[in-house]
Amino acid sequence: MIPRSKPLRAVILLAVLGGAGSLIWALSNVRQGYEPRQPIYFRHSRMAGAPKWTVNAQGDSVNVGGSNIPCLYCHTMPYKGRHATVPSTAVCMNCHQTVGQNFEWVIKLKDYWARGEPIPWVKVHDLPDFVYFDHSTHMNAVTQEGKAKVACEDCHGKVQDMDVVKVQNAFNMGWCLTCHRKPEMGASTDCVVCHR
Ligand code: HEC
Ligand code: HEC
Ligand code: HEC
Ligand code: HEC
Ligand code: HEC
Repeated sequence: MIPRSKPLRAVILLAVLGGAGSLIWALSNVRQGYEPRQPIYFRHSRMAGAPKWTVNAQGDSVNVGGSNIPCLYCHTMPYKGRHATVPSTAVCMNCHQTVGQNFEWVIKLKDYWARGEPIPWVKVHDLPDFVYFDHSTHMNAVTQEGKAKVACEDCHGKVQDMDVVKVQNAFNMGWCLTCHRKPEMGASTDCVVCHR
């Protein structure tokens, strides 16, 4: 039976996690900088980044930068649910039925689509299951003046400038708490808020 008292639950949690904890702690420092290779060389800089126009050898103006696609076009859920969610191939195909047909990786993308096979994207961020994190509560939190308290960038860095997404912060308990303790965040540091 799970005890109803919150302090008791926290003590039991401590006891249960204590053993595994030291191992997890040792491994957790590896997380910052994690930058797994993806099945498709998808570059956020090309899709979500700002355009950069140059003139090529033929004298044509070409965009070697990005297309300014908003994060929410592809990650549709961060204001609505726990997970920001990674887009399905159908979202890519909204444009790539017609756009960029000669690019090597667009051809590979269309092969997955034609086979009806989802792209096996490798998770970049992955908290342990005993931690509760919800994107929507973070994205919807506002100051008294109505300003958003956090932005994607505060946790994930400038993804729009990255070729390959890389973990920009420690994503361990100390990191969560450092932000939660800032008075302007008004966020709780109770164990049971994140361990429920
Ligand atoms: C055209 C669609 C698209 C746009 C626009 C886009 N993303 Fe992504 N994003 C993806 C795909 C596909 C992945 C999975 C592959 C990867 O990790 O690169 C991903 C992965 C991520 C991840 C890592 C997910 C994980 O596994 O932990 C983060 C963080 C992220 N995006 C943030 C952003 C932010 C912030 C923006 C806006 C600046 C943005 N994305 C714009 C498609 C998009
Ligand atoms: C809103 C339209 C749009 C969506 C949605 C979109 N793209 Fe693109 N994509 C573009 C444009 C525009 C280009 C640049 C084409 C050019 O330069 O001719 C491009 C280029 C690319 C390239 C080739 C350039 C490079 O980085 O090598 C790849 C690969 C690519 N997209 C993958 C994806 C994937 C994967 C998704 C879905 C997660 C996606 N795109 C969703 C518009 C889009
Ligand atoms: C307060 C910090 C924080 C902010 C702000 C934040 N994220 Fe995240 N994000 C995380 C954490 C923590 C995870 C890992 C969640 C997990 O493993 O359960 C994550 C995971 C993700 C993932 C991987 C899939 C998923 O949904 O879990 C994507 C994609 C992502 N974030 C995109 C975004 C985008 C886009 C924004 C802005 C709209 C954003 N995030 C804002 C902390 C944040
Ligand atoms: C950049 C600052 C920042 C970081 C980093 C951050 N948080 Fe938060 N967190 C907030 C803010 C702001 C709130 C909402 C405060 C309010 O109610 O206005 C919040 C609220 C919460 C809540 C309570 C609301 C809910 O969803 O039930 C939980 C749980 C939480 N955060 C978990 C985490 C975890 C776990 C991490 C680390 C993986 C984390 N946070 C990292 C700023 C942050
Ligand atoms: C703001 C969110 C947050 C709060 C509040 C929080 N934790 Fe954590 N906790 C985490 C995250 C995230 C991890 C995962 C760390 C990792 O994987 O590196 C974690 C991991 C742990 C672990 C596993 C061992 C370890 O050190 O990684 C224990 C035990 C733990 N927390 C106990 C507590 C106790 C006791 C409290 C109250 C004093 C507390 N936590 C408050 C987010 C939080």
